[in-house]
Amino acid sequence: MTNLMPTYTRLPVTFVKGEGAWLWDSNGTRYLDAISGIAVCNLGHAHPAITQAICTQAAQLVHTSNLYQIEKQEQLGTALVEASGMDKAFFCNSGTEANEAAIKLARLHGHKKGISLPTIIVMENSFHGRTMAALTATGNEKIKEGFGPMLDGFVRVPYNDSIAITQVFKDNPNIVAVLVEPVQGEGGVVPADQAWCQHIRQLCREHDALMMIDEVQTGIGRTGKLFAFQHHHFLPDVVTLAKALGNGVPIGAMLTRGEAAKVFAPGNHGTTFGGNPLACSAGLAVLDTLAAHPEYISGATNMGNKLKAAFAHALNDCTGIKAIRGMGLMVGIQLDRPCPELVKMAMDKHQLLINVTRGDTIRLLPPLIMTDDQADMLVAGVSDIIRDFLNTNA
Ligand SMILES: Cc1ncc(COP(=O)(O)O)c(C=O)c1O
Repeated sequence: MTNLMPTYTRLPVTFVKGEGAWLWDSNGTRYLDAISGIAVCNLGHAHPAITQAICTQAAQLVHTSNLYQIEKQEQLGTALVEASGMDKAFFCNSGTEANEAAIKLARLHGHKKGISLPTIIVMENSFHGRTMAALTATGNEKIKEGFGPMLDGFVRVPYNDSIAITQVFKDNPNIVAVLVEPVQGEGGVVPADQAWCQHIRQLCREHDALMMIDEVQTGIGRTGKLFAFQHHHFLPDVVTLAKALGNGVPIGAMLTRGEAAKVFAPGNHGTTFGGNPLACSAGLAVLDTLAAHPEYISGATNMGNKLKAAFAHALNDCTGIKAIRGMGLMVGIQLDRPCPELVKMAMDKHQLLINVTRGDTIRLLPPLIMTDDQADMLVAGVSDIIRDFLNTNA
């Protein structure tokens, strides 16, 4: 019997302790965490620098509110702006909230230009969160069912399709922004083509629209750069962040640049908790740790390539594998059939924590600090259950 709302179908395991890429359940069984709390604990569990930063801050001051100056928020804003090439930061508490802020900002940008029906281009198979505007922007019809009406002011195009987005810009004079994930995570671990990203950047420039990159899942080192857009050699107008920014302490952020940095004025947007000293001390500790250990981020590319090659080798005679793809430590293995049961199989048989997204794609998001031995364990265990599954579900 539980008093919790059934918004999740939870696995029957309770974790009580973590260290690095390991988690221990309440029976003392150890698991290898290859999902990192869904791309949150990029530095692993109980990282000493993060633990120390939040303990020290908690003993000093947890919260005051955005009515006052907040030194740690200023410092984190400066650190993010300097690392990204953006101009300004707004802090909130989650990825959804960061995207809500971006959507509001795009609409206000449009209204200031005299556009009364500001419209944002979003992608098929996208995921941007669960609140109403973020849900409207999301391209997964299943999770929208029963929550209509959705908001006006969005138009959807296929991902990685230059012709479709060019046509929308041509046909619709109300476009004020494009919102796009550099790698679609929930949508099946699908990276954006570099040429397509650069094409969007160009279209946005030509049409005075904001290029808004949702880095909630890809940000903070996961793809082998601090921000995934840095692979593509351009600067967006708006970047949204959350997840790994606090390594488990809830924090979200929106970074803005140029004209986008001048849109919001006092009273346009706000939050009680956003950017409080506790959350920002975690964010600062994350960025400091990544700066002190550049091998964590550069290692994500090498480790991701190693994982993809090892899976391709281990599964090369399996007929049910459709694709092995990803970027850095976002790795997807797509099967030719739905496979949600693999999550429990991996947990029960090999004590591996993995995820299945889009119904048919195994998604691996291990922490950046995963060792070679742990990677070998992951490849062996996941390959084994894929074989088992494909044999018994032929
Ligand atoms: C790309 C992307 N955007 C937004 C979100 C929503 O973030 P949150 O769950 O922190 O609200 C997610 C969560 O998975 C995400 O992957």
